[in-house]
Amino acid sequence: MAIERTLSIIKPDATKRNLTGKINAKFEDAGLRIVAQKRIRLTLDQAGQFYAEHKERPFYGELTEFMTSEPVVVQVLEGEGAILKNREVMGATNPANADEGTIRKEFALSVGENSVHGSDSPEAAAREIAFFFSGLELVG
Ligand code: PPS
Repeated sequence: MAIERTLSIIKPDATKRNLTGKINAKFEDAGLRIVAQKRIRLTLDQAGQFYAEHKERPFYGELTEFMTSEPVVVQVLEGEGAILKNREVMGATNPANADEGTIRKEFALSVGENSVHGSDSPEAAAREIAFFFSGLELVG
């Protein structure tokens, strides 16, 4: 399988509860390498741009407000089949449906406060990585 890169965000509910290290251990245990990482505080405008595809959904306001409520950790994960592998490690969007051992099963509070975001396709990964990182910041 090809080596891929994917964009991950450790969300405000997780940074607030000091879970960054525990979540990163899940990625590394699964063979994903953290090749870029920074802690930032999103503005409402930035969160709105990032989640623009969900603009018409009823939870858009709640989602963008939540993503600005505390710092987030944005990161690029690299590995074989990294996009799908990360989605597996994360677990289902709603923690009630997430498999045992996944990040969301272990840490997420609700479908909104679900601890992590991960790109869902190669196109999304390329767009989302470029949203947060320049090529110079990616150290493979
Ligand atoms: S998915 O996995 O993209 O198909 O999930 P989806 O249901 O389309 O949800 C997209 C993102 O919206 C968040 N979400 C919500 N936030 C607040 N309130 C409610 N009710 C809610 N429902 C979904 C969900 O956590 C997804 O965030 P990301 O960051 O994309 O994982």
